[in-house]
Amino acid sequence: MTDKKIIVAVDGYSSCGKSSMARALAKNIGYIYVDTGAMYRGVTLFALREGLITPAGEILEAELESRLSSLSLTFATQEGYDVPVLHLDGVCVEQDIRSMQVASHVSPIAALPFVREFLTRQQQALGRAKGIVMDGRDIGTAVFPEAEMKVFVTADPRVRAERRLAELRAKGNGEISLEDVLQNLQERDYIDTHRPVAPLRQAEDAVVLDNSHVSIAEQDLMLRFAFEAVLAHLRGSQRG
Ligand code: DC
Repeated sequence: MTDKKIIVAVDGYSSCGKSSMARALAKNIGYIYVDTGAMYRGVTLFALREGLITPAGEILEAELESRLSSLSLTFATQEGYDVPVLHLDGVCVEQDIRSMQVASHVSPIAALPFVREFLTRQQQALGRAKGIVMDGRDIGTAVFPEAEMKVFVTADPRVRAERRLAELRAKGNGEISLEDVLQNLQERDYIDTHRPVAPLRQAEDAVVLDNSHVSIAEQDLMLRFAFEAVLAHLRGSQRG
């Protein structure tokens, strides 16, 4: 492919198939894939481990802010995973960041302006050379408002909860109910869409993909077609 590489921003709600679509697209087109939710989860895991979130859920913000600059979050290859996964201070934390404990504390952490600033800077550095598919909540609106391709992914909340439950059960969390998962998703949606800094919203120039009633293979095809359409459009506008 002789085309210049672009930035693909994939935003949307949690557990709507966004990450697996984005990962598949990156693999198929030879781009780097970055899961920015993992980075917010990484900061949350760090805060929990260091006792910076009290049992009552209060975040010790001043201490978290002062310790953030020494925190190393990187994506590195790891046996058993087909894409680079998050490492916290050099140690793979892919499994730990997917726990319900992290999930239930991540939204308030992601609402803190200094956490967003810290991670946004790192994400912008990762995309400097383009050729990247980045998924998150604010990629097309705040991290890369100039991205050549923006996708906003949605799905019905119950369908999302069922998918998330299946994932959690596959990882051995047998005791969690559909209602618990649905409630956690809805709480996160509310916080993510109502926070003052970089709330989750559809960029005006984003293509909307609704994943409620399509298979994974169909999702991947939709995104691939959208990517090819953007490239064709860019080639056309270059020719003038
Ligand atoms: O995609 P995820 O469920 O792993 O994201 C975890 C949390 O991080 C979620 O509550 C939203 C937040 N997040 C964010 O605020 N901005 C991003 N770019 C990515 C995730």
